[in-house]
Amino acid sequence: MSGPLVLGIESSCDETGIGIVRGHELIANEVASSVEEHVRFGGVVPEVASRAHLQALVPTLRRACEKADVDLSEVDAIAVTAGPGLMGALVVGVAAAKALAVALDKPLYGLNHLVGHVAVDLLDHGPLPQPCAALLVSGGHTSLLAVNDITRDIVELGATIDDAAGEAYDKVARLLGLPYPGGPVIDRAAAEGDPNAIAFPRGLTASKDLTRHRFDYSFSGLKTAVSRWVETRRRDGGDVPVADVAASFQEAVCDVLTAKAVDACEYLGTDHILLGGGVAANSRLRALLEERTAAAGITLRRPRPALCTDNGAMIAVLGSEVVSAGLPPSSLEIGANSGLPVSTVLV
Ligand code: KG4
Ligand code: ZN
Repeated sequence: MSGPLVLGIESSCDETGIGIVRGHELIANEVASSVEEHVRFGGVVPEVASRAHLQALVPTLRRACEKADVDLSEVDAIAVTAGPGLMGALVVGVAAAKALAVALDKPLYGLNHLVGHVAVDLLDHGPLPQPCAALLVSGGHTSLLAVNDITRDIVELGATIDDAAGEAYDKVARLLGLPYPGGPVIDRAAAEGDPNAIAFPRGLTASKDLTRHRFDYSFSGLKTAVSRWVETRRRDGGDVPVADVAASFQEAVCDVLTAKAVDACEYLGTDHILLGGGVAANSRLRALLEERTAAAGITLRRPRPALCTDNGAMIAVLGSEVVSAGLPPSSLEIGANSGLPVSTVLV
């Protein structure tokens, strides 16, 4: 294996991630999560997350270097998430990356977290056939992308007009009395339930919506439908069949995500699609997307579940692509951008 040795730093939400890659080879991927500190609040508390990053960053960096048997002086570049994410959380990673870049005299690359989610598959399946499509499904974003060049040319075809898919999982889990984060818990509960038990709505799929919102998503109506169904059942004094609600909700989410993803490939004329983001770890999404892309003659590239949620390796491998493409490093004066659009790969 060859390619630049890149250190990646990720601190956009509640995971402090440090990854080290050489080209497309994963060498270390250490993650410290503050999720336990947020559970009792039912969601990430920004101030708590920032403090946890400050405490975890240096120990996590040390662990990654030990695992990789790499001395920091050996790295070719420092890559860091510059956005989008929680401002107070992002600045911890960006400040650390700048300090390392100055102290080690290495180039700094401020990168887009969302593009990192899509790029991480390079570690599992090698070079990308470009252009290709991508379905990005995270806690804060749900988008269909045209990836013309992962280092500099990404076009958003459509996105959620309200809640992100992961956000819908987290909200539905909460109303079912399940813990945060809701995605993995609903995924497990759904395995015991009937996905056809309750007919929940599929947002923006009616023909009148498809003209204006062909590649957009909407999950807030689905969340309201689940909430109404559960309230009615409770008011009538019945037990809520958690597994059936979870499975039926999950089917509604995955049905729309995958149908529009296949349509996007057909629209773009591409026969490759990348899957990325925390919700890409979902077992039903992985299976249904595989089934539907295969039926349409499209090759699906999906990273292993452990690489789908936030980590430093995804930033490191995107950094390695950017370095290999010969793009100029970021200025040492870059800020963090909590609303960085997915089309800005490098700041
Ligand atoms: O990408 P990510 O780690 O963080 C953001 O960038 O937002 O995504 C976190 C989201 C959470 O909403 C979580 O509930 C969801 O990913 N998630 C899942 C699964 N694992 C994590 N959703 C569905 N099924 C899963 N197995
Ligand atoms: Zn993420």
